[in-house]
Amino acid sequence: MQQRLTAFQDRKYTEQASSDPEEQKRMEYYLGLLKPLTADLAAKKGSPPTCHVVNFGCQMNARDAEKLLGVLLAAGFAETQDENADFLIFNTCTVRDNADQRLFGRLGRISHFKRQNPAMKVAVCGCMMQEEGNVERIRKSYPFVDLVFGTHNLFRFPEYLFDVYTTGEKLIDIWSRTDRIMEEMPVSRKYPFKSGVNITFGCNNFCTYCIVPYVRGRERSRSTEEILDEIKRLVGDGVKEVMLLGQNVNSYGRDLKDGSDFAKLLEKAAEIDGLKRIRYMTPHPKDFTKELIEVIRENPNIARHVHLPLQSGSTAVLKKMNRGYSKEQFLELAGRIRERLPDASVTTDLIVGFPGETESDIEDTLDVIRSVEFDNAFTFIYSRRRGTPAASMPDNTPEEVIKERFDRVLSAVQESAKKRSLLLSGQLLDGLIEEENEQDPALMTARLSNNMIVHVPGDSSMIGTFAPIRLKECKGFYYFGEIEEKH
Ligand code: SAH
Ligand code: SF4
Ligand code: F3S
Repeated sequence: MQQRLTAFQDRKYTEQASSDPEEQKRMEYYLGLLKPLTADLAAKKGSPPTCHVVNFGCQMNARDAEKLLGVLLAAGFAETQDENADFLIFNTCTVRDNADQRLFGRLGRISHFKRQNPAMKVAVCGCMMQEEGNVERIRKSYPFVDLVFGTHNLFRFPEYLFDVYTTGEKLIDIWSRTDRIMEEMPVSRKYPFKSGVNITFGCNNFCTYCIVPYVRGRERSRSTEEILDEIKRLVGDGVKEVMLLGQNVNSYGRDLKDGSDFAKLLEKAAEIDGLKRIRYMTPHPKDFTKELIEVIRENPNIARHVHLPLQSGSTAVLKKMNRGYSKEQFLELAGRIRERLPDASVTTDLIVGFPGETESDIEDTLDVIRSVEFDNAFTFIYSRRRGTPAASMPDNTPEEVIKERFDRVLSAVQESAKKRSLLLSGQLLDGLIEEENEQDPALMTARLSNNMIVHVPGDSSMIGTFAPIRLKECKGFYYFGEIEEKH
């Protein structure tokens, strides 16, 4: 092992395979080596070296960022909120082009930190790095970047960290895929009272617009036992709410071929003693079974929130997107959810401007928005992703037309969201108090089971507790409320 430390070079696009216990030992070995290294840095500097993790993208990336920080803290770095840190790492997203541009903008701005502090190390990892063009651009245009790795080898981070500090050389290591799942990485949770829990990694759906399957690889499920054990450990550690994470959570277990599925997993997780609330992100409409709806109905600690990404209301576009459902099937599913889970919010994701989308396709999308009455939605303009099937589909819709359609979709969403949230006015609902309100420290920000945000008078001693909240004043997407005792 020592030898490869001196012999390391640019190991781009390699593929490795070894068993998990071996990787685990390897990670622990390097974590052990890092402690004296940071102690040395601290002795030279007079204080511990600082680190900062910048995260872009989805909840899966947020969880990965907690692992990156976990490793850095375990190695002996001290966290700072400042990007001008001794070790700075960007965990990237590439789902749409604006995510890529955000990284390059940020990177451009930090080069002067490095001039001020030549001992500073800069790393870039995550989904964007799984694309060759981006790695090349970093290599050429941002030569001050010391370390680059991708999504499949995150668990090698302690080793890479050790390498960049001991050799002083640049290190780029991108794997094209992995068949492994690392169970036991150090984690530093952003919130002590809530946590994400990975249940699947990767995605097999290949929606034609989407780059995720290419940068995150094929779907791999963790075993039910591992997942439940992790949740129990988290609950023992004070966690009250968990979010089960995967690109398509409700296809969980298919690859395990042992009869496990998402409905069973969710049911078992909901039965864990002391777990107050459980969420999951993201489910796919095509895999949202009747059994799953019933499991949610039977277990009040499963969040009354169903995120059901529609993408388009047009059956023709859905087909071109390879989504696996029609407009009618989606409406039927949403109808069943509204009927069986009447107190649940139903939210969605929408894409406007998919190649070849017509006015009548948009009318279908507006029609679904109006009939389902989504409680909220993320609306995106289609972004062409290199290498995806949709990238080579013909498209001649002018930008202004797409923009105008986007605005119409957005106002339909705002209208339905407002209508739905007004229905909650005056209700008494349990909220988890998560943080201080950014604008007004006399207010605390709470989250209801249906994912609605409510601001309530209070103080920071309440953070991490549940309270019954009376919803007083509707502000469209959020509420002002007051904590009330239940009678
Ligand atoms: N696995 C999840 C989330 C994927 S990314 C799912 O299937 O819903 C989150 C959202 O980004 C998607 O739901 C989609 O609405 C949007 N998205 C993905 N690729 C996109 C692209 N190329 N252009 C615009 N929006 C995109
Ligand atoms: Fe992308 Fe579709 Fe997979 Fe979601 S389900 S990550 S949109 S390919
Ligand atoms: Fe982005 Fe990767 Fe998530 S591309 S949306 S961070 S899986």
